[in-house]
Amino acid sequence: MSSTSKPTTESLSLDFDTFQLPGIELHELMDDLRAQAPVVPVTFLGERVWLITDHAHVAAGFRDNNIFPPHTPYKIGIEPVIGETFQSMTGDRHRIFRKLATPTFRPRSVEQINNDMLTSVANELIDRFINKSEVDLISAFTERYPFVVIARLLGIPKEEEEQFHRWVMAILRFRSNPDKALACRNELWNYLDPVIADRKKYPKEDVISQLIHHQVDDIQMTDEQVKSHIGIMFTAGSSTTHDSLGNILYALLVNNDNWQQVKNNPKLRALCIEETLRWEPAVSILPRMSRSEEAIEFGGVTIEPNTFVLFGICAANHDPSVFNDPHDFQIGRNVEGMMTFGPGPRMCPGMHLARKELSVTLDLLIERLPNLQLIDHEGSKPCGTVFRAPQRLLCNF
Ligand code: HEM
Repeated sequence: MSSTSKPTTESLSLDFDTFQLPGIELHELMDDLRAQAPVVPVTFLGERVWLITDHAHVAAGFRDNNIFPPHTPYKIGIEPVIGETFQSMTGDRHRIFRKLATPTFRPRSVEQINNDMLTSVANELIDRFINKSEVDLISAFTERYPFVVIARLLGIPKEEEEQFHRWVMAILRFRSNPDKALACRNELWNYLDPVIADRKKYPKEDVISQLIHHQVDDIQMTDEQVKSHIGIMFTAGSSTTHDSLGNILYALLVNNDNWQQVKNNPKLRALCIEETLRWEPAVSILPRMSRSEEAIEFGGVTIEPNTFVLFGICAANHDPSVFNDPHDFQIGRNVEGMMTFGPGPRMCPGMHLARKELSVTLDLLIERLPNLQLIDHEGSKPCGTVFRAPQRLLCNF
């Protein structure tokens, strides 16, 4: 579809799951759909479903966990491979297990995460390509960085990171290759059994030890639950952060003035991260489901039970009634109201860690690669709908 074309019956019959819609194409499509209605019919995973296209209705959807129970998509999509985590729980169990699993991600704990560890992971990755003449920053840097950070927080030995990466990548591709994902999950679980047994006897300063020993309302995780919650850190915290990092680098490099600005003025870097989180959110469209009991009325339409409802996070973040000139990338604009981390009871507990990782890596990339330049602008545009990021960022430096 060209960047100026309107959505047609043909374009809407294409599956949202496989749409690429690079760069502005996604946002223009969302503009056209928002102009039609706040909730419109689209196709997703071969089914006729609903897409929410404006800020007010996306915000209302996130607030109301009764009409859009947040756990259902995770029960179907990820629980069969990593087991039950708080993401697929409800009510009090969700509250208790979220508290058990996330102390490491509270703002104060994240402040205490060693900047040296975050910087040394980034330095190790840069060292691998610094002597080459060009690099694809996605495969050489962004894809690896958040994964290695989580592995180090868990206390996985460095020499086992590669193997760990292969298992986790296969688990993340569960939908396209379930057999391989389950085989890798079994290998990962076998690897973790003796590690958990060891940390029970000899706790360390790492996240696995915290998951084992932490108690909330007299409840502690079983070994199976510890393994599932190790899994969720990678499934929820790895690709989201690497996609965000790719989007930040794209936003800065596609217009080299932006790169120069943040290079010369470090105070702008945090603002630039916030604006990218709004402008090109890594979770661009979040699939939720309507409640199972009965049909609901929402945004002027009737939604049947157990129907996918796509929360257009990107559409909310580009709603002109909330953000002026929303398609413009403006470092320093007020981003209050962005939907990027899913406001409401399920709000992302990893956002403080993600922001810290983005900040440390941006500083280091600027310091070590001050003359970074994008070679291929066209092929670097963020693409995809549910998860959205550049697929490659070929650069010289
Ligand atoms: C910039 C990077 C990130 C983005 C854009 C992001 C986005 C989101 C969004 C939109 C949700 C809400 C999902 C829903 O309502 O169904 C969410 C939830 C969640 N995120 Fe993140 N996330 C990021 C980083 C992380 C990190 C680094 C971690 C952990 C290591 C993490 C762990 C989680 C978990 C466990 C949940 C489920 C919360 C619950 O169900 O109570 N995320 N994230």
